[in-house]
Amino acid sequence: MIEVQHLTKRFAGRTAVDDISFSVGKGEIVGFLGPNGAGKSTTMRMLTGYLPATGGGARVAGHDVFTDSLKARREIGYMPENVPVYDDMRVEEFLKFRAGLKGLRGRDVKDSMGRVMDMTGLKDVSRKMVSSLSKGYRQRLGLADALIHRPRLLILDEPTNGLDPNQIRAVRTLISQLSQEHTILLSTHILGEVQMNCRRVIIIHKGKIRADDSPDNLAKSSRAAATITVEVKAPAEEAVDKLQAIKGVRRATVTSEEDGWQVLEVKPDAECDVRESICQAARDNKWPLRELGRRQATLEDVFVEITQRD
Ligand SMILES: Nc1ncnc2c1ncn2[C@@H]1O[C@H](COP(=O)(O)OP(=O)(O)OP(=O)(O)O)[C@@H](O)[C@H]1O
Ligand SMILES: [Mg+2]
Repeated sequence: MIEVQHLTKRFAGRTAVDDISFSVGKGEIVGFLGPNGAGKSTTMRMLTGYLPATGGGARVAGHDVFTDSLKARREIGYMPENVPVYDDMRVEEFLKFRAGLKGLRGRDVKDSMGRVMDMTGLKDVSRKMVSSLSKGYRQRLGLADALIHRPRLLILDEPTNGLDPNQIRAVRTLISQLSQEHTILLSTHILGEVQMNCRRVIIIHKGKIRADDSPDNLAKSSRAAATITVEVKAPAEEAVDKLQAIKGVRRATVTSEEDGWQVLEVKPDAECDVRESICQAARDNKWPLRELGRRQATLEDVFVEITQRD
């Protein structure tokens, strides 16, 4: 559905998007992550034909987004970062206007308006002036606009930006419903949203793609992967030595101590579950053991690791 090859964008000597290539298959829902200024919006604006590229190319549903922009755009529902809505129109007028711009005619306009207002929960405010809408409702209107011409691909630039937790939930549910029928490229800073909704994540940093995999695989390959916490009653030095002697343990460090109880953080070699051996060591050394737990790396660990590396 999306094919990007060597796409590059430079602004006045500054490279915002630096030779990126990726493709997104039909029906995929891909989270597009990266810190502020990474190049997410710039990439999305090029894909949607709003910004020319400095180099490279991109296709949407087989259409070149630069030379065959109209055909490509017909396949795309784009919700930009700052939803541009016309303040001096009523909600329904705005959607009617947008439907017309996107080539809908006659009955199709009315049907589509009904459909998208239902989907985004705008029915109750259809007669309201756009200027009087709250931020959340403006976001919904932006989403309704993106959906009105039944595009096969949705490109959503931070659709939950600025929403309260209830509205974030509502939009997340809506996106997961939309994912049954649409291919979606979604940028966001809410990592939980990605972990829940997306089977694939692309992380961009300083204009370059630094990771492209499932959230699970990324978490597994993270350096923070599987940290084990152990709490035993034992002399600190002895606990460290004995734990580090266990096969598969890379490092053990004491993180806190209270009344002779040591809390240790144990880093195993990748893919190694050393909890059973730790338990055995506690028994052998007659250390009382009151906690043994393993924490998997999260997408947040991966994000921080990749984007703070340099
Ligand atoms: N029109 C422009 N003119 C000059 N520089 C720009 C322009 N648009 C974006 N940039 C620069 O390109 C870089 C990438 O910006 P972009 O908006 O794509 O980042 P982003 O990943 O969407 O960040 P955010 O999470 O803050 O939305 C930034 O350094 C930004 O300042
Ligand atoms: Mg942006």
